[in-house]
Amino acid sequence: MSKLNIDVIVDLQYGDCGKGKVAHFLCKTKKYSHVLRYNGGCNAGHTIFHKGKKFITHHIPAGIFFGVRSVIGSGCVLDPAQFFRELKMLKDGGIATKGKIFIAKNTHIITEAHKKEDGENGKKIGTTGRGNGPAYRDKYGRTGLRAEHVRALKPYLIDLYKEWHGGGTSRAKSRENVHILAEGAQGFGLDIDWGDYPFVTSSHCTVAGALLNGLPASALGDVWGIAKIYETYVGSKKFQPKGALFDKIGDIGEEFGSTTGRRRQCNWMNMQTLERAIRMNGVTHIVFNKTDVLRAVGKWAVYDGKKKIEFKGEKPMQDFVVKRLKSLGIPRGRVYFSESKERI
Ligand code: IMP
Ligand code: MG
Repeated sequence: MSKLNIDVIVDLQYGDCGKGKVAHFLCKTKKYSHVLRYNGGCNAGHTIFHKGKKFITHHIPAGIFFGVRSVIGSGCVLDPAQFFRELKMLKDGGIATKGKIFIAKNTHIITEAHKKEDGENGKKIGTTGRGNGPAYRDKYGRTGLRAEHVRALKPYLIDLYKEWHGGGTSRAKSRENVHILAEGAQGFGLDIDWGDYPFVTSSHCTVAGALLNGLPASALGDVWGIAKIYETYVGSKKFQPKGALFDKIGDIGEEFGSTTGRRRQCNWMNMQTLERAIRMNGVTHIVFNKTDVLRAVGKWAVYDGKKKIEFKGEKPMQDFVVKRLKSLGIPRGRVYFSESKERI
């Protein structure tokens, strides 16, 4: 019997916290047999620096940069045109993709009509216009199209039961261990159930969303929560407070969407919403990205609910955060502060 183990990467805020960077790091340091993208469509954009080159992927998980089997899961929705574009971009960039990229056959498809509809109607909440919402709607309305119905995708299709559990004729059976890194898209603040509805995406951005891809809860290992030392959000609701300071954070932090190029709204990190995300996802390790941005701005603060707490410098702020995390059961040794340019 092969052993099954899953580590999960989950964004604790509104996406764009640097999941790609952490996925890249974990793939380099741990031996995974698979990397799984477990939710979302091409609304997501992962920026990955590999061997000095910059790649932006929307569908294909980071594992591909390390020759790990890279799976687009059943919790995702897939735009075949974008998938093939990305495949070409990776090949052109010198990344070996043959026999490494897979799509769950029950993954739903984003059609041209979905994209058109989202482009027209998505403005109200400020979607990425990539057809994500309409594709999930049709999935749950039971009128959707699955990857198994698209002929061009046939060479990439897999059955997740066989892949993870070795059911039937199995690849997994012949492997000693199935060790999966499950990489989420978007973030907890955009989750369909736990985000600020209706300013949310249409999928499950939680650890539970990872398990929805045919994975048993008993196989769950580490949960890497990813946050940014300040918050950003992109969409129609008002998020950024008044003041030039927040524009400065956005400028220095280069806070523009990797999918749509839109300017992200910025705010201080909120400890209470972070705490909620940590608890609901069972976070065991946490990474705070972009610490250098607040250093460059020279201001440090967090919200604790509605109360703003200011700090004299980086160290007192980090000490405050570390103490708070300790009270949530995350020890200092599992808290990482990382800089924008740092390739951890
Ligand atoms: P949709 O996912 O395109 O339907 O967009 C719904 C909301 O989620 C909008 O506010 C988007 O800006 C936001 N969103 C979707 N994908 C991402 C992402 O990868 N990063 C950040 N925000 C996202
Ligand atoms: Mg992103």
